[in-house]
Amino acid sequence: MSLSTRLTERFGIKHPVISAPMAFAAGGALAGAVGAAGGLGLIGGGYGDAAWLDEQFAAAGNQPVGCGFITWSLRKSPEILDAVLARNPKAVFLSFDDPEPFASLIRARSIPVICQVQTVRDAARAIDIGADVVVAQGSEAGGHGERRATMTLVPEIADLIASRSPATLLCAAGGIADGRGLAACLMLGADGAVIGSRFWASREALVHPNMHRAALAACGDDTTRSSVMDIARRIDWPPRFTARVLRNSFTDRWHGREEDLRANADEEAARWRKAWAEGDVDVANTFVGEAAGLIHAIEPAGEILDRIVREAEAAIQGRSRI
Ligand SMILES: Cc1cc2nc3c(=O)[nH]c(=O)nc-3n(C[C@H](O)[C@H](O)[C@H](O)COP(=O)(O)O)c2cc1C
Repeated sequence: MSLSTRLTERFGIKHPVISAPMAFAAGGALAGAVGAAGGLGLIGGGYGDAAWLDEQFAAAGNQPVGCGFITWSLRKSPEILDAVLARNPKAVFLSFDDPEPFASLIRARSIPVICQVQTVRDAARAIDIGADVVVAQGSEAGGHGERRATMTLVPEIADLIASRSPATLLCAAGGIADGRGLAACLMLGADGAVIGSRFWASREALVHPNMHRAALAACGDDTTRSSVMDIARRIDWPPRFTARVLRNSFTDRWHGREEDLRANADEEAARWRKAWAEGDVDVANTFVGEAAGLIHAIEPAGEILDRIVREAEAAIQGRSRI
């Protein structure tokens, strides 16, 4: 049995898994390793640093990879999209804000557009503007997102796609870290999974070892969603989006006191950024999802992908309870 789906067919990949374009963490080595193992690997274009992106495309070597952008941030430096399109990426992934006009520019180059959404309304918009793949992201996800849970958001958007645009593909994101999760999202009507946290916990990810250690010691209960990290980093996220991170003394102190934090921003921003660089996980937050509780080792991305797919196949065939 194989897990071929419309996603594997459309993208010419072996496994129905996309590695998430995680800002700072998903560089070319991770995207390339996921691609080499049969998934679709994405570089995290994040807040748009052209020199960093050049390095990361080089690190992916000859392996074809795609790239993701934080859409509201891309609006501030749209020229970065041109530079990435010139590399003929395997796909461009847009998340957080209206995908236009970027989606049209990408599609005009015959490059597939993947739109990650957090609500049914945004899914409808993604379908209307011709997204090739809609990613339904639940709030279990690591990093930024919104409030809906994967379990209901995915089938609701599957129904919307079935009635409005059956050729559009659907992936699930948020909390998928093993074969059970992959099998479940296919059962919910998705064509594949976008996996972030589990690949963040890989050897190839660009993550401070202290943050990896903190995630391995954590369970899903230890995460929280907040905006205080963005206030500390002075990144102006639209208020509807918060980020899931591991709770620590910083979030315990400031979450719910955002105005006080803004009043102390100079001092706290410097403290947070220093802690991030040094891997001081008590001050700087570890960006990881509820899936932290399903992650028990930092392993090569290719091994992680192989195991997830093997487990999912077994789960679907009913051969094992995993
Ligand atoms: C460390 C980290 C950074 C992330 N950065 C981004 C990002 O820059 N752009 C984006 O679209 N999504 C980002 N995400 C969210 C992912 O796209 C995806 O929705 C999420 O990782 C899926 O849930 P999971 O973490 O439970 O696998 C990030 C996730 C993590 C864990």
